[in-house]
Amino acid sequence: MTLQGIGVLGGGLMGSGIAEVAIRAGYDVRLLELDDRAVEAGKERILRSLERAVEGEKLSSIQRDEALQRLSYTIEISDLIDRDLIVEAVVEDLEVKRDLFRKLDARCPERTILASNTSSLAITDLAAAVRRSDRVVGLHFFNPVPVMRLVEVVRTMVTSEATLRTAQEFATSLGKEPILAPDSSGFLVNRLLVPFLLDTIRLLEAGVAGVEDLDKSMVLGCGHPMGPLALCDFIGNDTLLRIAEIMFNEYREDRYAPPPCLRRLVAIGRLGRKSGEGFYDYSGEKPVVLGV
Ligand code: CAA
Ligand code: NAD
Repeated sequence: MTLQGIGVLGGGLMGSGIAEVAIRAGYDVRLLELDDRAVEAGKERILRSLERAVEGEKLSSIQRDEALQRLSYTIEISDLIDRDLIVEAVVEDLEVKRDLFRKLDARCPERTILASNTSSLAITDLAAAVRRSDRVVGLHFFNPVPVMRLVEVVRTMVTSEATLRTAQEFATSLGKEPILAPDSSGFLVNRLLVPFLLDTIRLLEAGVAGVEDLDKSMVLGCGHPMGPLALCDFIGNDTLLRIAEIMFNEYREDRYAPPPCLRRLVAIGRLGRKSGEGFYDYSGEKPVVLGV
């Protein structure tokens, strides 16, 4: 199936990145957000990221302007019913995602594929909410989307071959490397990454080491591009907490249990980069360690 019109639900960290890479690949993209304020925030993220690409000479200013011509925004879901493929990247909440899929399923033409960028929910649970369950697929991008080349493509027991092929071809057309992942919570990468991040928080809680040394140990000792606690702040501690709860609920294994410290951080609004404070304070030139 040839794709032209793409819909993106959610203009946050991931939705803005997905919209950006799609317009840069030549697609027409319409991004849905909750309200005008959220639309403006999403727009700002995309403009900042495109500017970074122009400054890094990965994109000319003409290419940037042409890409922006292909991007539109809305807060009305009815504006998405002409899309060929819609990728949802809203909050990691099954009911919010299912509600949006149901509304689109009732309005979109037969051909429209519904894809989810969820980190940990079962794609099957989304497919079960709609009549077009054979045209539901997982398209799990990685943060930051313009940089990370992997996309986990997730099929359910009922995803059609044509839908799977279209999803894989879409990812490739964005310059990504698709891999097929199982429809189990966390797919492949998060089965490995999430326990690693949660275990780091548990070491911090147990007083084994401080934030700086825990991060330094993996950057200097294992060549990680950023430390695990900095990565928690980068992903969003609110999103990480939701992912941990979902994975723990699926597997009932201690390594997925959300540490109390993560709950406390989210409860007081220290969500990470997105709120300005998490394990670090991001208000200055360089991140500064914050106590937990
Ligand atoms: N958006 C777009 N581009 C970005 C970016 C962003 N937010 N941050 C950095 N970049 C680009 C820069 O423009 C730069 O590009 P050039 O080299 O072409 O100039 C390049 O990335 C390197 O950036 P910096 O030099 O500024 O900084 P860095 O070297 O520290 O790289 C980073 C930043 C790419 C984020 C790097 O620290 C990194 O790769 N961190 C690990 C990220 C990671 O593990 N992501 C997966 C999270 S898990 C997930 O996504 C799944 C889930 O479900 C939670
Ligand atoms: P985010 O909090 O940055 O953005 C979520 C966006 O969804 C917000 O802008 C919010 O306004 C919007 N939203 C919520 N309900 C909505 C609705 N009903 N209609 C339209 N918009 C709505 O979150 P994020 O980090 O971008 O994560 C989004 C999804 O991507 C989640 O499922 C998450 O698990 C997944 N994901 C996150 C990462 C990451 O590193 N943050 C990586 C891969 C996948």
